Amino acid sequence: MALMLSLAGRLAGRSRFLTRIAGRLVARELRQLKGKPVERQLLVYDLPETQLALANDLRLVDTILSDRAGSFPKARALERLLRPLIGGGVFGQPGGDPVRQARRLFVRALTRIPEQRVTAVATAVTRAYLADWQQAGRPVAIPSELSRLTIDIVSEASLGTRFTAAEGRRFVELFFEYHRRVNPVLLLLGSQDDAGQQALVERMGLAAIGAEMRELIRRRFVVPLLDAAPEGGQAPFATALLEAAAASAGADRTSAPDDARQTAMLDEIAVMLLAGHETTASVLSWLLWELAEAPAEQDEMAALIATSTVASTLADGRADAAVTRRLGALIQEALRLYPPIAFLLRQTTEAVTFRQRPICAGGYVVVSPWTIQRHRALWPQPDRFDPARWLAAEPPAATADRLAMIPFGYGPRVCPGKRFAEVEMHAILGELLGACRIARTRSRWAASPHGPTATSACTSARAARRRLRSCRQPPGQPGHRCRRGRSPAGPGCARGAVF
Ligand code: HEM
Repeated sequence: MALMLSLAGRLAGRSRFLTRIAGRLVARELRQLKGKPVERQLLVYDLPETQLALANDLRLVDTILSDRAGSFPKARALERLLRPLIGGGVFGQPGGDPVRQARRLFVRALTRIPEQRVTAVATAVTRAYLADWQQAGRPVAIPSELSRLTIDIVSEASLGTRFTAAEGRRFVELFFEYHRRVNPVLLLLGSQDDAGQQALVERMGLAAIGAEMRELIRRRFVVPLLDAAPEGGQAPFATALLEAAAASAGADRTSAPDDARQTAMLDEIAVMLLAGHETTASVLSWLLWELAEAPAEQDEMAALIATSTVASTLADGRADAAVTRRLGALIQEALRLYPPIAFLLRQTTEAVTFRQRPICAGGYVVVSPWTIQRHRALWPQPDRFDPARWLAAEPPAATADRLAMIPFGYGPRVCPGKRFAEVEMHAILGELLGACRIARTRSRWAASPHGPTATSACTSARAARRRLRSCRQPPGQPGHRCRRGRSPAGPGCARGAVF
């Protein structure tokens, strides 16, 4: 393993071709893993420069993410990978006081967005997309459409405006390309020293993609916001950021130069757009992927929604309880099976011993919601998509330990957008299931307005499902074997962000 990673590390990033070979070498190595080693309580790899430990033991998970979180900051490699996109934004920062401060600011800005606003915007934007799809009169590709849709929702709800359709399409294209370049070599970062990591990131050509995405954000959101402070209710998140910037400038009496202000705004808005759209789009994509094979469930939900008041009253907090419960169960099950951030990557600041195994200082420590939420010791029939497990009188036994279900992370770096995401996903899903029939077609995985689905699509859909089911690796990982464009992983398995 170590030898192969070292060889792959040398090849990666030199050219597109060699990077692809490097990705294949890593994937081949991972496939050698027999049985379910990723379910071990602790799995430690010795890499050329360091070690990598995957912890499934829930007590260790608590130690890493919460109890001793200060000793396990986010890995530097993560910051390197994300810097071209989000600059110094909170998501990529390892830890310490600056992060605590930035998080506080981010959370305060998020709480300015009322839940009713999230629901109202999500409902209106989804309806507009549905109308466009209906007008187009042909199936649409779910992953990219959901990406555009969730970007529009996050930006409209928080900044009071959104990309034009052309900008939105370009943004999604660039983001998929970013993933496509990062995924094959992600694990290789662990086998490099600092200089090697930097060189690898540079050779991947992420800077140019990141720069174009940031320019789109700067032109559409940041410059107009700085030019004319918006009315607070229209852009609650942006207004809170502007107020905080003004307050800190006032506090140290040296108003930040314009470009520094602009960069700080740009970084946090980039975090908001990226963390806030890709995750929800991914969960909903996977959920619709599963529902495409469950037409009876779709019919039932459509009927329930038709006779309820979900769409019109979610915004007032008066949604039909039965529908809300069913939607909630679907979302929970998708979050369990397909957590969009499959790996939480940390790095030890000191040598530690886990279950009698020494891990060196600087070693990578991974907590994986993906492996924990599919662990046989915790979940009955863990690989089965079964929303009903969330509808029983008692919650699933696994959840007696809160660490058995951590799609939003845990501890001081837990997702601050959890509530935003839940409210948004309910609204989108209620609209989609009320108005759409989801099916997988021969070439695309699609949503069509209600109506019969071409049966010719079913054969290939079943085959694609078998491939997906037999795959033990999360999407986006080198060992993942779904075919290009045939899974919610999007083009080239671009989905399934790994952080
Ligand atoms: C289904 C939806 C979502 C899921 C499953 C999710 C999951 C996560 C997870 C697991 C983390 C922690 C990563 C770590 O510890 O390494 C995280 C962080 C974060 N999330 Fe989310 N997220 C979702 C939606 C959102 C939304 C809608 C927003 C914003 C509106 C958001 C903003 C953030 C931010 C800013 C962080 C970084 C916090 C930090 O670095 O301290 N997320 N998310």
